[in-house]
Amino acid sequence: IASGRSRLISGLIRSVPDFPESGVDFKDITPLLANPNGFSAAVEELVATAPRDIDVVVGIEARGFVFAAPVALSMGIGFVPVRKPGKLPREVYSQSFDLEYGSETLTVHRDAIPRGARVMIVDDILATGGTIAATAGLLRHLDVTLAQVSVLMELPALGGRATLEKAGIDSFNAVV
Ligand code: PRP
Repeated sequence: IASGRSRLISGLIRSVPDFPESGVDFKDITPLLANPNGFSAAVEELVATAPRDIDVVVGIEARGFVFAAPVALSMGIGFVPVRKPGKLPREVYSQSFDLEYGSETLTVHRDAIPRGARVMIVDDILATGGTIAATAGLLRHLDVTLAQVSVLMELPALGGRATLEKAGIDSFNAVV
C-alpha cells in the first residue's frame, strides 16, 4: 500500500477513548465514510488484497457491510451478509462468541453460498478476532473455502491475529 493512501485512510479513522465503555478505545470510521476520496481508497485497497478466483464476499453486520458490499461490487461478485440474531428470515446457522465489550451471536442463511465456493471475509476492524473467528465457524457449516480475510484496520494490541491463526485462517491482510 502506498504510504500516502495509508495515511489518508488512517487519518480519517478517529480514536474515541472510553466508548462504549471505560477502557475501550473505539475506532470511529464515520469520518472516513464521509470523505469520498478516503472511502474509495479504502475500498480499492481492500479489493487489492483479494486473491484470484474469489466467488463471494462475506460482510459482517453492521460496519463490515459498508466496506464488504462495495468490495463485492467492484470485484463483480456477490455479497453475503452475516447478521446479528433475528434478522435473517430463513433457516440460519448461529455462532456465539465473546467481544471486547459483551458477547454476540452471528448468523448466516444456511443456503447463502454454494458448497465449495471460495470466500473472502471483509470487515472494518480486527480487534480480538472473535467476530471473524465466529464468521469462519459459520462458513465451515456451509462447506466453503475461506480463501482470504481482509480488514480495513487491525488493532495489534488486542491479539486478533493469534485468534485467527487458532481458527485456522492463514490468509489475512489489514489495510492499515
Ligand atoms: C466491531 C467491528 C468488528 C468487530 C471487531 O463490530 O465492526 O466487526 O467489532 O471486534 P473483534 O475483533 O474483537 O471481534 P461491533 O460488534 O461493534 O458491531 P457493529 O459493526 O454493528 O458496530
